[in-house]
Amino acid sequence: MCGIIGYTGRDNAKDIMLDALELLEYRGYDSAGIALLGEDGTQIMKRAGRVNDLRNLCEEKKPVGNCGIGHTRWATHGGVCDENAHPHRFGKITLIHNGIIENYRELTEKYELEGKLVSETDSEVVAAVLEHFYSGDPYSAIRRTVLKIKGTFALAIMFDDQPGKIFAVRNVSPIVAAATKDGAILSSDVAAIVPFTTDYFVMPEFHVVCLSPGNIEMFDLSGDKAEIEWLKVDWDVSRSSKGGYPFFMEKEIMEQPQVIGETIYPRMKEGIPDFSKEEIPDHILADCKRICVIACGTAMHAGLVGKSLIQAIIGIHVDVVMASEFMYNDPVVDKNTLVIAISQSGETIDTLEALKFARKCGSPSISIVNVKGASIARASEYVIYTSAGPEIAVASTKAYTTQLAVLYLLTARMAMARKLWSKQELSEYMKELSRVPEVMAKVLEKKEEIHRLAGSILNAKDVFMIGRGLDYSILLEGSLKLKEVSYIHSEAYASGELKHGTIALITEDTPVVAVVTQDKLKSKELSNIREVQSRGARVLLLIKENEKLEDDGRFANVFRLPVMADTFMVMPASIVLQLIAYFVSLDKGLDVDKPRNLAKVVTVE
Ligand code: G6P
Repeated sequence: MCGIIGYTGRDNAKDIMLDALELLEYRGYDSAGIALLGEDGTQIMKRAGRVNDLRNLCEEKKPVGNCGIGHTRWATHGGVCDENAHPHRFGKITLIHNGIIENYRELTEKYELEGKLVSETDSEVVAAVLEHFYSGDPYSAIRRTVLKIKGTFALAIMFDDQPGKIFAVRNVSPIVAAATKDGAILSSDVAAIVPFTTDYFVMPEFHVVCLSPGNIEMFDLSGDKAEIEWLKVDWDVSRSSKGGYPFFMEKEIMEQPQVIGETIYPRMKEGIPDFSKEEIPDHILADCKRICVIACGTAMHAGLVGKSLIQAIIGIHVDVVMASEFMYNDPVVDKNTLVIAISQSGETIDTLEALKFARKCGSPSISIVNVKGASIARASEYVIYTSAGPEIAVASTKAYTTQLAVLYLLTARMAMARKLWSKQELSEYMKELSRVPEVMAKVLEKKEEIHRLAGSILNAKDVFMIGRGLDYSILLEGSLKLKEVSYIHSEAYASGELKHGTIALITEDTPVVAVVTQDKLKSKELSNIREVQSRGARVLLLIKENEKLEDDGRFANVFRLPVMADTFMVMPASIVLQLIAYFVSLDKGLDVDKPRNLAKVVTVE
């Protein structure tokens, strides 16, 4: 969702803003804008549409200034139009905002703003409140404003009479900041900072930061100077470029063997799963009576695989809850419930709020997060970072499989902590886990074959995906991937459930993707496949390469998966489903990395 950038220094802020906004496009947006503070005062350029439209506007108007703020907007309050795009200006104040101000109506009334605002946004109201409190001291105006506004916010603010300075403050919505060679920069994302430096910090909530060329200062809300906690980007910066691939999604799919290796191998000590670096004590894994996984979208689908693993291996009950629904179902979590929050970005607000609630109920918590220092990582007791590196394509691929990899490791450590396994059982499991990167690489070698198979659903209106158990869990994710990037309506069904209604939708034109990787479910799954074939469905089957199929002629297409122990088959199978979605989108000529209406980082409820 909304992306934020701010730069002050010696260079032309306009070009830095526009380049950074392009890097932030992946978050999802519908309008873009920049404001420059220079010798000619404050100039604002903004437009509904793409960053390229804004670039054209800037080419025409040629704004100048060495200090600027820029924004990509994903509409919440007010429609998509030039007026509602950020930056917003009121009096001497110019600002950009990510988040939602809940009490903007009350503030509009209290400060008599009716008729004085030019947009329909909650953000412009904040600019007006700041102006109300501003009499030359930016810190005081920001402090007094923050006490009045309710909601989530990341604000970057310029004051007309404070040349070269950008102020920022936040609650929930993230801001990272860094020093550049002769200036300073802030953003909603590390990705926009990486072209300048690998040293950065995450702004703590309710602190005010002031950037000026060559200087960054931070104060808490009582005005005391606060220490900055510096972090280092620990992924190769080349990971944030396409590296010769047409789309990030393909590159990120191809990176999986490597990033899974980077996620699991450092956490294997002499064949034993090891979370000592994360300081996760065994008792937390051994003592819990149940587990509650909280996540959204793809991360929630990773949780479903985790549920199957943990229930099968550990024998305790696992709930996987959509974070957005968590609070509305009177959640039952307590000190005996281990809460696992899963999130690529670490910023999904629903997941964050649910996690905070669970912690208030006394639940121990572990988060599985990809972005270092993210809000969810900070809000949980323990954090395990996936080493997926930056994931730029909106559709999540490598983040998902690295989350699965962590869940495999965590399950093994839990089995150890509870003394459920013999040495040999542990060693066999860990050996199989360490084969995952190599097996995934084998699937990727067959990329072109998968491309051909994807052709069988290219022109479909609806696609059904069927399987049972673990196969069903990964089909939920495979189906989401297809919907997200190809806009084809697709549903994943537990194959045993089909005959209770959905089979009515199966016709001769319906492609069905079936995954059969679990020995214990095979015969039932094959019977269910027969049921849809009897109604004329064309079935694309994913099955292990050593599996004998008596009558494979009845399948429209069959893809043979390299063999692993059943528990691990989701890893090679997931890659095939990701590639199918990717190639369908590619061959339809769609913008694979930036599907319509979607945002990579969802910071509103
Ligand atoms: C958005 C993204 C999805 C992602 C979900 C959860 O909807 O488009 O790809 O799975 O948010 O995001 P998180 O960062 O918490 O994993």
